[in-house]
Amino acid sequence: MNLRRYYESDFITSEYYKFRPTYNNEIRDIILEYLKQVTGKPPPYQLMVDVGCGSGQATNLMAPYFKKVLASDISENQIRIGKSQNKFDHVTYSVGRAEEIDVEDQSVDLLLSATAAHWFDLSQFLKESSRILKPDGVLAVIGYCIPKVTPITSKNIMSDLTDFCTKLLQKWMFFGEKFDRDGYDQSFSKYSKIFSSIPTQKKQRCEVALVYEQKSLSYLKGRMRSSDCVQAYREFKANEIKEQNGNVTEEDLKPFDVTEHFGTEVKQKLCLEKSHDDEIKFNVVHDVSIVMAHKIMLDE
Ligand SMILES: C[S@@+](CC[C@H](N)C(=O)[O-])C[C@H]1O[C@@H](n2cnc3c(N)ncnc32)[C@H](O)[C@@H]1O
Repeated sequence: MNLRRYYESDFITSEYYKFRPTYNNEIRDIILEYLKQVTGKPPPYQLMVDVGCGSGQATNLMAPYFKKVLASDISENQIRIGKSQNKFDHVTYSVGRAEEIDVEDQSVDLLLSATAAHWFDLSQFLKESSRILKPDGVLAVIGYCIPKVTPITSKNIMSDLTDFCTKLLQKWMFFGEKFDRDGYDQSFSKYSKIFSSIPTQKKQRCEVALVYEQKSLSYLKGRMRSSDCVQAYREFKANEIKEQNGNVTEEDLKPFDVTEHFGTEVKQKLCLEKSHDDEIKFNVVHDVSIVMAHKIMLDE
C-alpha cells in the first residue's frame, strides 16, 4: 500500500491553497461532454465523488453539475481548508482514502481524481471505482506536473528562455533526488501509464493547457513550496539536522530553501538581480492530462 504522505502539515496545505492552480472551463466541458455521451443525459447528475480533493481545486469546478458531491482526502489539513472555503451546500468534505470510499455500490455518476491518482494504490482504486460507479458512471482522472515557465521582462515575452527557466525550475524542485520517484514518473508520463492500466477499451485521454499569465517570481516560489517534492526535501534536511544537533530551526533550514536557489539563478540569467520578486513576471503553463473511462467491469 502506498503511504507517502506529503500533504499533511499546516505549512504545505496553506501554501497549497494559495498557490496551486484551479482548473479551467475547457477541462470541465470535456468531462461533462464525456458524461453526457456515456449516460445519454445532460446535467444535473446525482452524485460526484472527488478523491484526493486537496482543498477543493477540482471539486469547485464540477460541483454545480451534481445534486450531491462528496470530496475526500487522506490529509486532515487539506480537508480542514476545503471545508473552510466551501461555498456549496451540497458539497461535503471528509477525510478518507481513495482506495476505500465510503459510498454504496453502484451509486456514483462521476468519480473524479485531480492531480492525485499518481499517489494512489492504483489497482485498489480501480477496483473501488468499479464497485461504486453506476453502470453508466464515469471515471475521470486528471493531472499536471511541473509547469512550463516563460519569463516576461519589460513587456517582452522571452519564449527563447522557456526551456532554460523550466529546466531550472525542475532542477530545484527535484534537488533532493533521494525520494521515491514513482509518483513523479507517473506525472511526467502525462498519465499515460495510468491510462494503459485502466482495463477497458472504453476510455479516452487528452490534454489541455492551463495558462496563467503574468505571474510573479514570488508566486512561482509559492507554487514550488506547495509541491510534495520540495516539501519532502525540506523534511529530509530537517530530520538530518535534528539527528546531528538534537533540534532544528527555520534558520538552520534556510540554506536548503530550493525556492531561493531557483530565484537567484533565474534572476542572474535575466540580469535582474536587483529587482524585487514581485516585479519579475512569467507566463506559467500547466499541461493537464485528462483520462476518462466507462465503468470497468471486473470480468471484462
Ligand atoms: C497534488 S494534491 C491534489 C489536490 C487537488 N485535487 C488538486 O487538484 O489540486 C494530491 C492530494 O492527494 C491526497 N492523497 C494522496 N494519497 C491519497 C490517497 N491514497 N487517498 C486519498 N487522498 C490521497 C493528498 O493528501 C493530496 O491532498
